[in-house]
Amino acid sequence: MAEFTLPKNSKITEGKKWPHGPKAKSGEETEFRVYRWNPDDGANPRVDTYYVDRNDCGPMVLDALIWIKNNIDPTLTFRRSCREGVCGSCAMNIDGTNTLACTKATDDVKGTVKIYPLPHQPVVKDLVPDLKNFYAQYASIEPWLHTTTATPEKEWRQSHEDRNKLDGMYECILCACCSTSCPSYWWNSDRYLGPAALLQANRWVQDSRDEATGERLDNLEDPFRLYRCHTIMNCSKACPKGLNPAKQIAELKKALVDRQV
Ligand code: SF4
Ligand code: SF4
Ligand code: FES
Repeated sequence: MAEFTLPKNSKITEGKKWPHGPKAKSGEETEFRVYRWNPDDGANPRVDTYYVDRNDCGPMVLDALIWIKNNIDPTLTFRRSCREGVCGSCAMNIDGTNTLACTKATDDVKGTVKIYPLPHQPVVKDLVPDLKNFYAQYASIEPWLHTTTATPEKEWRQSHEDRNKLDGMYECILCACCSTSCPSYWWNSDRYLGPAALLQANRWVQDSRDEATGERLDNLEDPFRLYRCHTIMNCSKACPKGLNPAKQIAELKKALVDRQV
């Protein structure tokens, strides 16, 4: 599993131990240690301790964070939307692994649940990483259909076989768990596109309807944008949707080689 490394702005100090929940009896609580950082108070990041009443709370780590916010500390800040592994917004580092808080069961963690933002990204506040660069890189691969022939009257047709070639890529929810677990991305995220954007790039290279494959590959043929992937495979271990970005990156490299022969 991906090793945890500290977020960029971190000299972490021991934080507050918050009081026990209103209804909890002893032995029915789980300890959560959660990264906190507020850009407005001038203080160092800290790790706060909370006790979550498991009889009063849903089974997932996201349920516990919402419970803490509702019952103990309304200032705790995190992103979430769909709460069923579809939107990608609740990605964070739980128990040393990048994953989705809404699909990670609290019972899957042994002992104290330790939660940090996605590693090696600037932090906006608490568990919210700043993903501006990540989204800009996604935009840079132009994730839409490029065509030059006349638009068909009804729709761009695709055989079942060609559509199946997009399996393993179209399911990506852009949660950033993979890119933020990739050592090459940690050190070169200004120039290396990272596994999420590259998986998406291959999604369009492989699309039988797209008519800009050559330009898409030209855009990737660069020592940093694509070739900083050293096949370390952290990305594929981290993906909460079970995708394999490293395999898609290998396909892109192969497509670049194939067009030269
Ligand atoms: S396989 Fe490539 S993209 Fe995936 S973690 Fe390794 S270096 Fe990063
Ligand atoms: S490939 Fe997986 S880990 Fe990476 S952004 Fe997509 S869904 Fe998230
Ligand atoms: S809240 Fe949408 S993926 Fe977790």
